[in-house]
Amino acid sequence: AITVDPSAAGATIDDTMYGVFFEDINRAADGGLYAELVQNRSFEYSTADNTSYTPLTSWTVDGTAQVADDAGRLNERNRNYLSLGAGSSVTNAGYNTGIRLERGKRYDFSVWARATSGTTLTVSLKDAAGELAEARRIGVRGGWAKYTATFTASRTVNRGRLTVASSAAVALDMVSLFPRDTYRNQPNGLRKDLAEKIEALKPGFLRFPGGCLVNTGSMQDYSEAGGWQRKRAYQWKDTVGPVEERATNANFWGYNQSYGLGYYEYFRFAEDIGAMPLPVVPALVTGCGQNRATDDQALLRRHVQDTLDLIEFANGPAGSTWGGVRARMGHPKPFGLTHIGVGNEENLPDEFFARFQEFRAAIEAEHPEITVVSNSGPDDTGSTFDRLWQLNRAAGVDLVDEHYYNSPQWFLQNNGRYDSYDRNGPKVFLGEYASQGNAFRNALAEAAFMTGLERNADVVKLASYAPLLANEDYVQWRPDLIWFNNRASWNSAGYEVQKLFMNNTGDRVVPSTATGTPGVSGPITGAIGLSTWATSAAYDDVRVTAADGTTLLSDDFSGDASRWTHSGGGSWTVQDGAYVQTDTEAENTLVTAGDPAWKDYDLHVRATKRSGK
Ligand code: AHR
Repeated sequence: AITVDPSAAGATIDDTMYGVFFEDINRAADGGLYAELVQNRSFEYSTADNTSYTPLTSWTVDGTAQVADDAGRLNERNRNYLSLGAGSSVTNAGYNTGIRLERGKRYDFSVWARATSGTTLTVSLKDAAGELAEARRIGVRGGWAKYTATFTASRTVNRGRLTVASSAAVALDMVSLFPRDTYRNQPNGLRKDLAEKIEALKPGFLRFPGGCLVNTGSMQDYSEAGGWQRKRAYQWKDTVGPVEERATNANFWGYNQSYGLGYYEYFRFAEDIGAMPLPVVPALVTGCGQNRATDDQALLRRHVQDTLDLIEFANGPAGSTWGGVRARMGHPKPFGLTHIGVGNEENLPDEFFARFQEFRAAIEAEHPEITVVSNSGPDDTGSTFDRLWQLNRAAGVDLVDEHYYNSPQWFLQNNGRYDSYDRNGPKVFLGEYASQGNAFRNALAEAAFMTGLERNADVVKLASYAPLLANEDYVQWRPDLIWFNNRASWNSAGYEVQKLFMNNTGDRVVPSTATGTPGVSGPITGAIGLSTWATSAAYDDVRVTAADGTTLLSDDFSGDASRWTHSGGGSWTVQDGAYVQTDTEAENTLVTAGDPAWKDYDLHVRATKRSGK
């Protein structure tokens, strides 16, 4: 029985309580949310990013071409360019299987080119079966300038290629192809299906850009060490202004990041989806397997100043230095920044906290209206966690970011984690969590756990599942909330749970108590659902069928370890009455692989209740 007392006072739930955490992991940005279709558009890929890369990764040359890094470059931050010989061409293969083009849709091509004596570029879109759009001819003469052309695709393809041919020698850089149809039709925009899936969650906040991405690598910027710095920490100033002047970088997760999706685009996206922006800056102490604390005071001062400049970029008037950069990029109105995270999962608690306090003091002195978010290290418990909580509590920090990735069992057993947290201490920002797996049982465990977050909404002020996005062909971390390739995207079961909570955020907790365990009686038939999966071990002869009656999954549950038979690949077992998934991808596979239109399945579960359960 559940007893509810509507008159009792429960915690207030903030509208911002449930949000999303976007990190450029699993190619979430380039080849993902950032709608650019050309991979390695500025020939900046390097073995420093990934040992398998060259400046011509994703390009093939017909004729003569070489990548140059000399005084003829486009600008100081965009070092490499392609020197293409007369009568030669280069072809780009995009991401995944290639450039995805949809019949009848428009595509905007652009390139920076230099040809002192003049040349004609022929730009074409093709696949193995031939032309996909009428080729465009572009006359080029003189120094570096941007040239554009528009295509309309004659067919839908997943393996498209972009070719640029030149009649005479030419220098090329920033070879780009964008769908016209980006999210909200914005220039330098976002891939529509992915952005709309995130928008549909109705997130209360958007944490970005990482994660380990933020506080790993060198804390210097590309010029501070007297030259080109790769593997540098994510620094917001690298990511704003004209895209051709954003110096690319090695991504901590093993690839190149163009920064085409940068701080302006993050703020714009947060505003568009009605989410509070929550950027995270490096604290000059590394984490994520790297344990270095910078003692360079000048560098620390520079990063602190960069953070103050970030507040001006977000909130300053258009007449201010950094507010002016924002205005020139197209957004004269402030973005309304209220929170900043400093640091992420540092393993050196005292070293981190000393530097965090310097950021915090400087921000609070100039911007008392901004909440500065600290963290509790990389784990849900342990000596670093304890020490950081002690430091955060003693210093009266407002919000502490916690991260944990644990088994579904852990999430079920720790529903009461925050019941005993100090009501007068710092509040919690649960910035990263997920149960290990993308199956329905994981989603169910996360949903159960979230009821504990909500019950403690006076302590837990913000919470975000992580990671948000994964390109299925470039996965560094799983599970993930939304999956995609170059042609489709699909939601995990956990996505539906996040959506459920974010779309139905209450105003106030109504205290309740429960006795006994709610049960299901009799044979059950219905659309596939979380509770059916979780309780399936209590039933005999469980079957999941498609609308036409085809059996997709079945098990008679005889013996201690029965095996699901199914048409999808992977395997499942049931042990000692508990449902155990042995292939974490299998359930995803059942509903998505090879058929992104998974909603077309009309799945049903039929089971006979086992006697005594
Ligand atoms: O979410 C993936 C990673 O997990 C994040 O980058 C990091 O903060 C955590 O360890």
